[in-house]
Amino acid sequence: MKNLDKYVEENKDRFIEELIELLKIPSVSADPAYKKDVLYTAEAVKNALKEAGCDSVEICETPGYPIVFGEKIIDKDLPTVLVYGHYDVQPADPIELWDSPPFEPVIKNTKVHPEGAIFARGACDDKGQMYMHVKALEYMTKTGSLPCNVKFMIEGEEEVGSESLGWFIERNKEKLANDVILISDTGMIAKDTPSITTGLRGLSYVEVELIGPNRDLHSGLYGGAVANPINVLTKMIASLTDENNHITIPGFYDKVEELSKEERAKMAEAPFSLEKYKEALDIEDVYGEKGYSTNERNSIRPTLDVNGIWGGYIGEGAKTVIASKAFAKISMRLVPNQDWKEITELFKKHFESIAPKGTRVLVKPHHGGQAYVTPIDTVEYQAASNAYKESFGKEPIPQRSGGSIPIVALFEKQLKSKTILMGFGLDSDAIHSPNEHFGIWNYLKGIKTIPLFYKHFTEMTKK
Ligand code: BES
Ligand code: MN
Ligand code: MN
Repeated sequence: MKNLDKYVEENKDRFIEELIELLKIPSVSADPAYKKDVLYTAEAVKNALKEAGCDSVEICETPGYPIVFGEKIIDKDLPTVLVYGHYDVQPADPIELWDSPPFEPVIKNTKVHPEGAIFARGACDDKGQMYMHVKALEYMTKTGSLPCNVKFMIEGEEEVGSESLGWFIERNKEKLANDVILISDTGMIAKDTPSITTGLRGLSYVEVELIGPNRDLHSGLYGGAVANPINVLTKMIASLTDENNHITIPGFYDKVEELSKEERAKMAEAPFSLEKYKEALDIEDVYGEKGYSTNERNSIRPTLDVNGIWGGYIGEGAKTVIASKAFAKISMRLVPNQDWKEITELFKKHFESIAPKGTRVLVKPHHGGQAYVTPIDTVEYQAASNAYKESFGKEPIPQRSGGSIPIVALFEKQLKSKTILMGFGLDSDAIHSPNEHFGIWNYLKGIKTIPLFYKHFTEMTKK
């Protein structure tokens, strides 16, 4: 066995134990109630980086949650890899749907993960994947095989829009100078089908409030005579897509990148079973924009989804009432060339224009970000591809993902380097859902693949 594989196998119990400890801290960035835990997680990451061999590690304050920065510079003339990840996690809600408590990690076997998977919020997104990089660094420093310089930038606000990271990058370009950015915060096609993510969708997230009468009303005395905000809001939302599931907001598709026939044909070559897809989700059929395949719908096409909707009486029993207000949270996934601020404006203008007389609508933009797509004929991609070939014995498939990491487009603009998205999660790992988990095989495979990227990238770029 190679030294690298041997090191990982010999230390795997400790690697798992350490990740489990990190997963016990509920670092939910969206909820201020967890502030102490989020800050404590930053400390834990700082200590882990120090232990793994960084020469200097610091907790960098920002207007929001801090960024953990660490580095090991072995030779200024060698290339520098900048690792990005996030230590914050999504809220665990709805908590009652978890089979075990979200912050009490347990290892269970699943059909996809017969070697076991760690169940906990953040197991895959992104503590587990971020920690693969910490352990890969440990291997390289402990065995004297680190071939280049390395910097780590681990943030605590990814799940709420990475606002402070933009602020931090702006002020620390020199500190963050690098030759390539390496991120594990995406997925791969399957355990026997390695893939590298070459695209991410952008995002525009808004909250809407539909206001009717100045107070809640008796639905018998007033029903039928005044606008019911919930009826109106749901009608307005329904009108945002037509019978072909195209989005109806004027101008929405104006800048959408259209892929060529060849590019779409290439995409369709990636292994995918619609039957298995439906089976995994217990659905009789898929649903989406006419004229596009499932894999196109969830990666190269823009979408509009309601993420939450509320208003009126939802307690026990029945209450006859017309609520004064109704609310919804709406996200739009965007594709290259769509500008998220422009789309947010288009949404706002359109949504305001379709509110009937007798109601008022407020559109509150939340966060957003640009889409990202990268070519594969670059030295960065080739180095990553070589690493996968060596680790999996197979060439990885380039694949565009439907998810968003808004900061990636900004990295390229501000730091002028390419990003490599080396994800090891699987779609079935249930990120953002109850029972999130990360396969132990995937976790260890990540640790075994990352050092190979350092090796190939250094060989291919050093002067
Ligand atoms: N790691 C995910 C994004 C992701 C997951 C991309 C899987 C590709 C494959 C990230 O933590 C995330 O959840 N991003 C959010 C956006 C953010 C602004 C809240 C998303 O995609 O909803
Ligand atoms: Mn993530
Ligand atoms: Mn996430």
